[in-house]
Amino acid sequence: MPEYEKYISLVRDITSQYISPPLAYIHSYGCRQNVSDGEKIAGMLSLMGYGLTSDENAADIILLNTCAVRENAETRVFGNIGALKHLKEQKSGLIIGLCGCMAQEKHVVEKLRQSYSYVELVFGTFALRELPKLLYDVLCGRKTVTDTNEYPADFCEDVPVVRGCSYKADVPIMFGCNKFCTYCIVPYVRGREHSREPEKIISEIRGLVGDGCREIMLLGQNVDSYKAEISFPELLRRINDIDGDFRVRFMSPHPRDATPELMDTILGCRKICNTIHLPLQSGSDRILRAMNRGYTSDDFMKLVRYVRDKDPDFSITTDIIVGFPNESEEDFEATLDILKQVRFDNIYSFIYSKRVGTRAAMMEDSITDEEKSVRFRRMLELQREISTEHYKRFVGRTMRVLFENESRRDGYIGGKSDESVIVEAKGSTDNIGQFRDVKITAAHNWAVDGEIV
Ligand code: 5AD
Ligand code: SF4
Repeated sequence: MPEYEKYISLVRDITSQYISPPLAYIHSYGCRQNVSDGEKIAGMLSLMGYGLTSDENAADIILLNTCAVRENAETRVFGNIGALKHLKEQKSGLIIGLCGCMAQEKHVVEKLRQSYSYVELVFGTFALRELPKLLYDVLCGRKTVTDTNEYPADFCEDVPVVRGCSYKADVPIMFGCNKFCTYCIVPYVRGREHSREPEKIISEIRGLVGDGCREIMLLGQNVDSYKAEISFPELLRRINDIDGDFRVRFMSPHPRDATPELMDTILGCRKICNTIHLPLQSGSDRILRAMNRGYTSDDFMKLVRYVRDKDPDFSITTDIIVGFPNESEEDFEATLDILKQVRFDNIYSFIYSKRVGTRAAMMEDSITDEEKSVRFRRMLELQREISTEHYKRFVGRTMRVLFENESRRDGYIGGKSDESVIVEAKGSTDNIGQFRDVKITAAHNWAVDGEIV
């Protein structure tokens, strides 16, 4: 019997002796990829006899599945670990564990060892399959079990996934990053790029669609760097050929690998949404070079023009980092300039955060935090105007919306259109999980209102 299965069964032998099934609380921070890992962790814990709970006070094991991308994400996790100390004191059998990207950082593991010794289980992003063995060791009384080894790529194809939603599913297609942007911790905590076999991906999606899933989100740290025996555009075409009423998005592509062929594929495949989240990071060529992004603002604009020439309404969103080391006023204005030229539907913006171990962390920086905050606010203000103006193009049109939640407004429900636009409409919660045609009546910043047709 493989090691993994042996330990699943050993842990199950222990949990089956409990009066009622022990409970696991998993908190996943950060990106969708990390949340997707959390769904696999939940799958393994279920195999080992654990039930899942959303109440950490009721839990027998608490796992913090962490993100390392910015410092505030890490600070939040340490705050949460600190707050768990009293729970551990009240309940000595409680297991507190930390996994995900932070667990792959040496300074974090050292800090846990020195100041948070009640965190008994620590495993990194490469060691998902080791969880049953590590947990068994903890249950057998071993103090502080840590595994931060960089194991060869393992897609955990055989691990069941416990999904949080029945009509939307995340499907990872590749893992890791080879790009080494100078600000980014991801290549250090997630390793090199590895792509899943296309048959495995197609068969997972077939199963999901057969179970009534309406939206598939393909995931990868650089999703368009997918490279197996077929290319990413070919994978999209094969997914598009799967029978059923569903739509497909993907995140996040890297502009360097976003080719005209990819754009043509999106435009030509009905089930692939006409939208792309294409992280630009900066509009200044000097900063893009210092970030090691591998494209210029002109390359980016060419791609935008290529797709907008074919579909003027094509929806594009992006990520921007403000305050990269020594970003001058001129560099920053180049970013504002490109925001005006592209007219993104939406931007996700971040103030640069220094990450230990990256090349940018070694760069001198003469720009103050105050200046960075001022620029950040200026950028948001500009984008708010652009989004509000840009969203007006949808007014009077009918959009297909997948409804997902109740709105904060009484009697309203919210969802996303095929173009990734947030849409709210009056309607019953019976519509949640269903596609509905919605006639758009008004545009606000970041969202539009409409009436279900
Ligand atoms: N500081 C600020 N933002 C960052 N991102 C990645 N690393 C950093 C960092 N060190 C942002 C990028 C990326 C998004 C997921 O997070 O914009 O696209
Ligand atoms: Fe955070 Fe990046 Fe890890 Fe995702 S891959 S959890 S964004 S550090």
